[in-house]
Amino acid sequence: TRVGVFFGGVSVEHEVSVISALQAINEMDSSQYEVIPVYISKDRNWYTGEQLLDIDNYKDIKKLLSEAQKVIVTKNEAGGVALQKDPAPKFGKKIMAEIDVAFPIIHGTFGEDGVLQGLFELFDLPYVGCDVPSSAVGMDKILMKQVLRDSGLPILDYVWFYNSQWNADSEDFIEEIEERLQYPVIVKPANLGSSVGISKAGNREELETAVEEAMEFAAKIVVERMVTDMKEVNCSVLGDYEDAEASVIEEVLKTEEILSYQDKYQGGGKGGGGASKGMESTDRIIPADIPGNLEEEVKDLAIDTFQLLGCSGVSRIDFLIDNSEQRVYINEINTIPGSLSFYLWDPAGKDFKQLTHQMIQFALK
Ligand code: DAL
Ligand code: MG
Repeated sequence: TRVGVFFGGVSVEHEVSVISALQAINEMDSSQYEVIPVYISKDRNWYTGEQLLDIDNYKDIKKLLSEAQKVIVTKNEAGGVALQKDPAPKFGKKIMAEIDVAFPIIHGTFGEDGVLQGLFELFDLPYVGCDVPSSAVGMDKILMKQVLRDSGLPILDYVWFYNSQWNADSEDFIEEIEERLQYPVIVKPANLGSSVGISKAGNREELETAVEEAMEFAAKIVVERMVTDMKEVNCSVLGDYEDAEASVIEEVLKTEEILSYQDKYQGGGKGGGGASKGMESTDRIIPADIPGNLEEEVKDLAIDTFQLLGCSGVSRIDFLIDNSEQRVYINEINTIPGSLSFYLWDPAGKDFKQLTHQMIQFALK
């Protein structure tokens, strides 16, 4: 089976994607799967070739890209992704026809949000992981909250707006935030991963600054009630809407109040679980140190969230536990989690090889 692994991408999580993808590729069962790497550079050119399989090559990215074979999706003048006029049919024939199944391992914009998945649909190519709607809803923190709340699943209360609405009339939103959520609050761009653009606000002035900052990253902003005395735990789910299982739960330890991009990917700390460079900077406890009833609740909610959104493959659902109330809240879902969250399956005896195998088999089902 020829597996096209798509990685890199245009989001701020580009480097994390390279690490996640190379880990997965290295662990894929080579007796069953022939990997065809497809690297999408930050300027949206597509490359393939064996050189892409060696992480050391990424230090010298220009040389790497000149040696790799460039494929035929390029950036159009308006900045969007375009198939070149002439090779468009060749594109289908060439790359897509060379693979039996696509395995997108791109975090964030254009990779985890349904855009790439839509391209696979267009080419009638089976692909690993979530489909277009589940990816899109999972990536949009506001849509996700709306879907979960509609089914009565526990989320933190929030206020949201488009940037233009805030610019036109921030007073109304500020009033609503101060009345309903109260400080402190967390301000987030609606559709970014890895904590980019997220900040805490303890008063009106900080709120305004935080919103300005978040608006640089997205067109929609969500402001959430903040639980100050809390634990962060994550649980991965593997399967599809018919049949899904939950992994062991990890507890994420932080050096700051908000787990920042710095904490997650650039810090110097040593990780307990994740073997990737990308995940190593966060300390984690596996399994999480929480009471049995909360453990059950987290696992059930993780599966509920996964199936409600219509996910498949592997996702990681992130939770907050309010320590004083002992209440669990669903914080977000990562439909293409860092390192595919393999380290959460390992303790139960499912190694990375088995995980990628099962993910591919779900796609071919
Ligand atoms: N968005 C990153 C990769 C994660 O949360 O796993
Ligand atoms: Mg995340």
